[in-house]
Amino acid sequence: MAGVGCARSLEAKRVLLIVGGGIAAYKSLDLVRRLRARGARVRVVMTAAAKEFVTPLAFVSLANEKVYDDLFSATDEQEMGHIQLSRDADLLVVAPATAHILARAARGLCDDLATTLLLATDKRVLYAPAMNVRMWLHPATQRNVSTLHGDGAWFVGPNVGDMACGEYGPGRMSEPLEIVQAIETALKQDTLLPAPEGLSIRGGALEGLHVVVTSGPTHEPIDPVRYIANRSSGRQGHAIAAAAARAGARVTVISGPVALPDPPGCETTHIESARDMLAAVNAALPADIFVAAAAVADWRAEPAVDKIKKGERGAPSLSLVENPDILASVSRGPNRPRLVVGFAAETRDLIRHAQEKLARKGCDLIVANDVSEGTGVFGGAMNQAHLVSRAGVEDWPRLRKEDVAERLVARLAQLIGGEMS
Ligand code: C5P
Repeated sequence: MAGVGCARSLEAKRVLLIVGGGIAAYKSLDLVRRLRARGARVRVVMTAAAKEFVTPLAFVSLANEKVYDDLFSATDEQEMGHIQLSRDADLLVVAPATAHILARAARGLCDDLATTLLLATDKRVLYAPAMNVRMWLHPATQRNVSTLHGDGAWFVGPNVGDMACGEYGPGRMSEPLEIVQAIETALKQDTLLPAPEGLSIRGGALEGLHVVVTSGPTHEPIDPVRYIANRSSGRQGHAIAAAAARAGARVTVISGPVALPDPPGCETTHIESARDMLAAVNAALPADIFVAAAAVADWRAEPAVDKIKKGERGAPSLSLVENPDILASVSRGPNRPRLVVGFAAETRDLIRHAQEKLARKGCDLIVANDVSEGTGVFGGAMNQAHLVSRAGVEDWPRLRKEDVAERLVARLAQLIGGEMS
């Protein structure tokens, strides 16, 4: 592989290699050999499951060091306590990182030596995930990966390809030389810097796609201090953007004024009015998927330059003009993404209105939800959605907005995958 491992590139570097229980553990033997050939000192820690695949003796022979596997070993603790073991390294590498290790590490569990070291360390951790494609794409694993990523961990892989279980897709552990290259990069960087391009999460269901999401309300100025707004919190749109980013997409969010932090892993542009939102969306295109989750104000006032004063003539009257329809304009525009998704927030005749909207706006899907009083959808944590397309209506149960987002992203991946194949 080009550019990998000039001789002794890891001279005197200390790598703590945690080997999880997956068939890819056999590749970690080669990893140890290659790290040592570059001058690194490698200490190996195995989980109980790892020892079902490869014997500790194989690692002892290659690392020329004892292998650690027991949290409660009195001898090991006396020789080198587990805290020291985790700190006495320049980098922790988990290869293969199984779904189980990722889940435990994301939760901060420490029920064996491997996970205890991950919790006790003050060093960068590099994960090389390896698992079945469904396990990798499962929202739970993607959530764990994004939690660890947010905590500062780096990832190399997984790669897309044939799997030991006979399936095909993302989930293969990176090759030893790719992991060596990631280790060299990690050891060159200031440990506090975020992962550089190519060393963040790969292999998600929307890998390589650009997704644009609008979220939140718009504010339409009446004068320099007053505006027209609505009750949208942006929670659903932000959750969709975060879920798309976890699935590997490059995500651009165009957000109206909300009280939420920017969704993790996305590039967020903040706007106030519908016209600004349209301009920002157009600037973000082209994209593969457009999700219009914002509650865009339908009308705006012609704003006064100065604050309107309370006068003797009573209340002023506002003359309203229609705002541009962002969803319709993207759907029918020259840069139309392959999948365009709108929302329909209604208080009655939900499905009929959603079907009309699908035709009128020219989009591919409408996520319809009942926002009548008592549902608590606007601003709340839960949502009950119906997915309306030309093929029919899917009724989803009442779910947390994050779970609606995960489901929607999974459906978008399916639809765009079907369209591409
Ligand atoms: O027309 P209505 O507001 O009911 O349609 C809702 C859908 O259209 C949502 O997806 C919303 O984001 C989008 N929309 C828009 N621009 C507007 C009005 C609505 O993109 N001006």
